[in-house]
Amino acid sequence: MSNPNNAVLKIDGKEIMLPIVTGTHGEMGLDISNLRNSTGLVTVDPSFMNTAACYSKITYIDGEKGILSYRGIPIQELVKKARFVETAYLLLHGKLPSRDQGSKFSQLLTRHSLLHEDMRHFFDNFPRGAHPMAIMSTMINALSTFYPNVDLLSLKEDIDTSATRLISIFRTMAAFAYKRSIGEPVVYPCPDLPYCANFLNMMFSSPVTQYELREETVRILNVLLILHADHEQNCSTTAVRTIGSAQVNLYASISAGISALSGPLHGGANQAVIDMLKKIEKDANIKKYIDRAKDKNNSFRLMGFGHRVYKTYDPRAAIIKKECHKFLRSTKISSPLLNVALELEKVALNDEYFIERKLYPNVDFYSGIIYSAIGIPENMFTVMFGLARLPGWIAHWKEMIGTQTKIARPRQIYVGKHVKEFSSR
Ligand code: SDX
Repeated sequence: MSNPNNAVLKIDGKEIMLPIVTGTHGEMGLDISNLRNSTGLVTVDPSFMNTAACYSKITYIDGEKGILSYRGIPIQELVKKARFVETAYLLLHGKLPSRDQGSKFSQLLTRHSLLHEDMRHFFDNFPRGAHPMAIMSTMINALSTFYPNVDLLSLKEDIDTSATRLISIFRTMAAFAYKRSIGEPVVYPCPDLPYCANFLNMMFSSPVTQYELREETVRILNVLLILHADHEQNCSTTAVRTIGSAQVNLYASISAGISALSGPLHGGANQAVIDMLKKIEKDANIKKYIDRAKDKNNSFRLMGFGHRVYKTYDPRAAIIKKECHKFLRSTKISSPLLNVALELEKVALNDEYFIERKLYPNVDFYSGIIYSAIGIPENMFTVMFGLARLPGWIAHWKEMIGTQTKIARPRQIYVGKHVKEFSSR
């Protein structure tokens, strides 16, 4: 009788038992950690379509049912009852902060909101049109030269200092990068403003204008940052965990995550969606773009559509779509691109190509419309994604440092040439 918790691999007349592991919600996996030792075989799974890289307690996604929860709490609960800073604490520590823990965490965010003045001048030397994601990846990597004592031990013992420094300084750097790009003087963080309000103030106030902080704008920004805060083993989180496994410091690991996120197939999609919607609006021809997306010989993809894990509507996209309508209505901002997006979604979700491949709007499809309505420029959309994803990246880095002692180093199947000898030239 085969053990229900084992799979049997029959090879070369031998039977190898492979343990079956089961997750909290019943998801099952084949543990192959002893496969090569017992058979000499490796598994082959380019892009890890079928491979779980680790065990994790941080985020759960059910791609078929469209479920997403952080430390067991559904995102629908968090966007209703928590702020982004509390969600960041939840991801880092596994539970929502008590009042005292929350206020200590906020004090650390305030204390670490200032950029080293020498770093402020770095912005003066980037080319004017430099993409903010390239600037952010460089600046965050450079942080480790200003805080060289951030090592694994200090991190494990005092994750809040290193985490709040990152989460707070990234926000300051993002606002400084934006101010530099429009030729305005930077606005320093204000100790009396909470996280999201402080960011908006640094972005949109100036020595001659006081930005009017509207409750609805602060709320919607909290919602967007919460929805983007983590997403288990996505490409950029995998980059952070992989780089971190070589015992690289947190800042350099996060810098790699920022670079991965900037790709148009990943976080860069939110900016690409707006570019696409503008083209569709100008051409007034949705069918042309739907046909291009379906054309095998055309590399064009419907940006903001499809997902490696979600084979139903991305639960984040559903919330963002609803919030988008609410925000535009309450601020009386009109967005022609929202109408284009709604029409594009309607046509695509009724097209056999998209239905058959289970392609639905993902987190990036509507988010840019809200960022635009807030006044955030398109080249800053992916920076917003990175700002939100920081707590998730740090939580995964911390989990990996705490549980995985080995360096991440996959195998391969060599299919190249074999040369016995060559005549010297
Ligand atoms: C994010 O992983 C995460 O969790 C990421 C993220 C997070 O929070 O960290 O959720 C954030 O990155 C969201 C995704 C943002 N990217 C985009 O919106 C770019 C457009 N989407 C696609 O490029 C694509 O859907 C991916 C990259 C998101 C997923 O690609 P997969 O899983 O590798 O799917 P695939 O390329 O194998 O596609 C399967 C089929 C193919 O057709 P066939 O070869 O079977 O005929 O679906 C087609 C694809 O051509 N397809 C699309 C499509 N996405 C997939 N066709 C047209 N338009 C699309 N958007």
